Amino acid sequence: MARDGAAYVCQSCGAVHAKWSGRCDACGQWNTLVEEVGARQPGALAPTKATRTRGLAFETLQAETPEPPRIETGVAEFDRVCGGGVVPGSAILLGGDPGVGKSTLLMQVCGQAALRGAKVAYVSGEEAVEQVRSRAQRMGLAQAPVNLAAETSVRDILDALKRDQFDLVIIDSIQTLWSDAHEAGPGSVTQVRACAGELVRLAKKKRVAVVLVGHVTKDGQIAGPRVVEHMVDAVLSFEGERGYPFRVLRAAKNRFGATDEIGVFEMGDSGLREVANPSALFLGEGGERAAGAAVFAGIEGSRPVLVEFQALVAPSAYGTPRRAVVGWDSGRLAMVLAVLESRCGLQFGNRDVYLNVAGGLRINEPAADLAAAAALASSALEAPLPQGCVVFGEISLSGEVRGVGRMEARLKEAAKLGFSQALAPTAAAETSPLPVTAVGRLAEAIRRIAESEWPKGAAA
Ligand SMILES: Nc1ncnc2c1ncn2[C@@H]1O[C@H](COP(=O)(O)OP(=O)(O)OP(=O)(O)O)[C@@H](O)[C@H]1O
Ligand SMILES: [Mg+2]
Ligand SMILES: [Zn+2]
Repeated sequence: MARDGAAYVCQSCGAVHAKWSGRCDACGQWNTLVEEVGARQPGALAPTKATRTRGLAFETLQAETPEPPRIETGVAEFDRVCGGGVVPGSAILLGGDPGVGKSTLLMQVCGQAALRGAKVAYVSGEEAVEQVRSRAQRMGLAQAPVNLAAETSVRDILDALKRDQFDLVIIDSIQTLWSDAHEAGPGSVTQVRACAGELVRLAKKKRVAVVLVGHVTKDGQIAGPRVVEHMVDAVLSFEGERGYPFRVLRAAKNRFGATDEIGVFEMGDSGLREVANPSALFLGEGGERAAGAAVFAGIEGSRPVLVEFQALVAPSAYGTPRRAVVGWDSGRLAMVLAVLESRCGLQFGNRDVYLNVAGGLRINEPAADLAAAAALASSALEAPLPQGCVVFGEISLSGEVRGVGRMEARLKEAAKLGFSQALAPTAAAETSPLPVTAVGRLAEAIRRIAESEWPKGAAA
């Protein structure tokens, strides 16, 4: 039995349980319940004795609502992901792997904003003032009028924010804060939830934009309860591949803007450089794209991702031809090969087929069918796809190319990443920012590849 006021809190979803168990009933995760003192607080909405209310003053939907004003920080990639700048009174959660560059990004953001006249504060709970200052100096921001503090007590932080009117406040990180109203240790779900709640409330009241840094767990979730994600107006994630200098900022949720915008940066000695044309970073520089390669415009979770499918179709040396696939479903490969043979007249019977998704990504979407088919046909026919072309679409057994979800988001991401045309289902052409070679049937797509028939002037 838990001690007085103590309870078992799921570190994954934040659900509070009276008893320990191996599995959280609320979210189904195993081994996530941890005893926390003071987790069972009296509910905020517990009825009080004298409940006098004034009722609700209802409004209509017709009134004029001005666009929220925005603080442009001057870091354009950051502003775009936020929906065109940071909204005063909003709270943003920024997650990312250790060392990916969260503190660097936010120092750049608040430094630039301060240079543009905003009153900003950077509160670090993880690093000493000297460390933060030396990072800022390395980034050339020594002259920026940033108010710097190293503090972990949320009460002191709230006091300071009440005393002065700030425009933008960075809290690095939410897991280091603690509130003396709760007994649980810093970083526990109870503390994280309570501290985030108090900061978000004050942000709204004083119309300060608050950015909270949140550490992520091994599986990429922002550590601590999902409830923090519900409390804030925007959840951003900062991602980077080990060994590569590029970093991508994405919005997983945004109450003040679209979530399919990405911001791309390159990490260097003097901080993060904004990258205007990032396709080079992701998919290799120039040169003719080889036969057998097709760039798939995919969606991972809620997010668009471009990835290259590479195919090799070669004469088979042995009796039984080989079928090897990395990063995609082998059943799906067999289906696509069968459709290519029966509907498009290609022959794979005496040839080995290798299909590889570059970069170690695993693709599960049916939307990748057309990209796989295009890569296979391109290799079989030794006809490369045009430079700067992305491919997506689902293939049916009858050889139709079908529309898929979020086609506009895929094309937008491709355009953002510097791609100049797409091979896609007919329905994609309607709202596309790129020239689309729209195909209703797989045979039509294969004929285009065989004859190199692509829109003029679209090549990158
Ligand atoms: N002196 C330096 N010169 C060049 N690059 C540096 C230097 N110090 C740090 N970096 C770069 O900055 C990165 C760390 O950035 P930063 O501290 O902003 O990450 P973070 O996401 O805040 O990490 P943490 O999770 O530890 O808070 C390092 O991985 C490194 O690439
Ligand atoms: Mg940091
Ligand atoms: Zn749970």
